[in-house]
Amino acid sequence: MPEALIRVENVTKVYGSGAASAAALSGVCLQVERGSWLAIMGPSGHGKSTLLQIMGGLDRPTSGQVHLDDMELSNLGPAKLARTRARAIGFVFQFFNLLPHLTALENIELALWFGGKRSDEGRARAITLLDSVGLADKAHLPPGALSGGQQQRVAVARALANEPEILLMDEPTGNLDSTSEADLLKLLGSLHEHGRTIVMVTHNLAVAEHAQRVVHVKDGRIERDRFSGD
Ligand SMILES: Nc1ncnc2c1ncn2[C@@H]1O[C@H](COP(=O)(O)OP(=O)(O)OP(=O)(O)O)[C@@H](O)[C@H]1O
Ligand SMILES: [Mg+2]
Repeated sequence: MPEALIRVENVTKVYGSGAASAAALSGVCLQVERGSWLAIMGPSGHGKSTLLQIMGGLDRPTSGQVHLDDMELSNLGPAKLARTRARAIGFVFQFFNLLPHLTALENIELALWFGGKRSDEGRARAITLLDSVGLADKAHLPPGALSGGQQQRVAVARALANEPEILLMDEPTGNLDSTSEADLLKLLGSLHEHGRTIVMVTHNLAVAEHAQRVVHVKDGRIERDRFSGD
């Protein structure tokens, strides 16, 4: 039995209160094995981003638990949680969340700094990372001067900054042309081969097929869970 790296146990997330409250997730259970590559699919507004954010400790469940290795995320204090996130998890947000007043390079350097890298090492590594997503020539531009696909690639480079064991990516190819999409999938394939655990949300079936397992989320529940070859 492969070891579960992420365990989501009976997680419910309710936004709002009283009559205005709505459940984005209802009793979700999901185990992600170490070294596996999982895709999450499902209709818009049905809880995919919410699930990913809760898995990454960016948001707390209303009830239920999330375990990362032997840690239960809600038991960690804010400093320990932030440290764990910075070192163990690379997150690509659906809407990138790059800092607008920093350049592409500085956005990545900041992530490296949070991960404990010294600034001289950080600069060289940030340049290598930008180069790996084909953007070395855009290093000194702010996100506002980059196209959507370029910003998305900076967000991917930032997620890889601290060589995290876990990559949580919310529609990482959503803004890419077919060449950049193929390049990114190749990069993810190589990270997977090197033992990284990848969870990616996607609307694109062809992208999802690169994963070993596809989970369908509907109405805040897991509707289907298929391993490739099933
Ligand atoms: N901060 C929030 N406050 C209130 N409701 C929210 C919040 N975030 C998400 N929701 C609601 O939770 C539900 C699930 O949202 P979520 O962003 O997880 O969907 P999604 O599956 O990622 O959709 P998409 O494919 O469009 O990105 C939606 O109905 C959304 O309106
Ligand atoms: Mg979403």
